Amino acid sequence: MKNYKIAILAGDGIGPEITAEAVKVLKVIEERNDVTFELLPAAFGACAYFESGSAFPHQTKAICDEADAILKGPIGLSHEDSKRIPIDEQPERGALLPLRRRYNTYANFRPVSLPKSLAHFSPLKAEVIGEGIDLVIVRELVGGLYFGEKEMGVNDAGLRYVRETLEYDESQIRQIMQQAFKLASKRRKLLHNIHKSNVLKSSVLWNEVMEEVAKDYPDVQVVNMLVDAAATALCLKPTQFDVMVMENMFGDILSDQGGGILGSLGLMPSACIGPDKAYYEPSHGSAPDIAGKNIANPYSMIGSVAMMLENSFDMEAEAKNVWAAMQGVFADGYSTADLSKPGSGVTMISTVEFGDKVVEKLRQMPKV
Ligand code: IPM
Ligand code: MG
Repeated sequence: MKNYKIAILAGDGIGPEITAEAVKVLKVIEERNDVTFELLPAAFGACAYFESGSAFPHQTKAICDEADAILKGPIGLSHEDSKRIPIDEQPERGALLPLRRRYNTYANFRPVSLPKSLAHFSPLKAEVIGEGIDLVIVRELVGGLYFGEKEMGVNDAGLRYVRETLEYDESQIRQIMQQAFKLASKRRKLLHNIHKSNVLKSSVLWNEVMEEVAKDYPDVQVVNMLVDAAATALCLKPTQFDVMVMENMFGDILSDQGGGILGSLGLMPSACIGPDKAYYEPSHGSAPDIAGKNIANPYSMIGSVAMMLENSFDMEAEAKNVWAAMQGVFADGYSTADLSKPGSGVTMISTVEFGDKVVEKLRQMPKV
């Protein structure tokens, strides 16, 4: 019997609702396998700030330190409400980036997966989707502009100015490249290296290191693509991609576009992996406008559980079952109001009902 500790950071907005459904799935995994999960809830995000004055409190850090893996819900407030929190304690700067830094979760995997059962959510035409979209964005998560030195002030000419720095050293680039090549060699052996070396020197070094790492993976074909061209290609022909690797900010932007081609960021789970610890989170925000309405689809949160099972607990077969269970619920014609409009031919169910149906399907799957 294995026993794992999982820190549960439900977060803000729709976070607690979709986290509750993910926890139901974890309970079914326990029933079906020789495994127990000790769930350790902890405050994180704007809710934590209002409770304790810190968006990432000491107790939460201690719980995360102790955990084998972390399941994190979305955090943040509406633009207006954010102003109630001092700028450095706002949950993105005060909690999320410090979490990434604390565990050096440099490798962010964001699958953009549109099997046939989900194709009706996509704004793309059937001929563009073809047999389905199945790509993974590998985003460097702890370097670049988001973590570089920042400065704001008034310059000698009396003008307000800002300076942000984009810095990578070769070891940071090498480690994310190794992750991307490793993933590509397990999949279709095709890696798109996304860069902007016609303008940015950071991309020149990025590409140099990529070529060095590529020598260790001779069976992986590399296609180099400028980031702006990649944005277009993702819309026009997403099926050409399998694994895409890129630096932090490019990955932030293109992964949201990934959500766009699926039809919703609600269909985007992710895994954030460091040398000793990994955490799992939806790629989207806390959607304060629909919070508490029981209409948010928990796919991204349950998908994050699937990624946790595979990456942190070596339970690949059960991870596949979780994906299949969710896709099965969509294939049966169900949806939630955040993903579909009334009258679009789907049977509308709530967040809780979606979770219940996933659990029901999972229980019916043959045990591994
Ligand atoms: C994401 C989010 C975060 C990021 C924000 C909330 C800081 O957009 O995970 O993509 O920019 O990385
Ligand atoms: Mg983002």
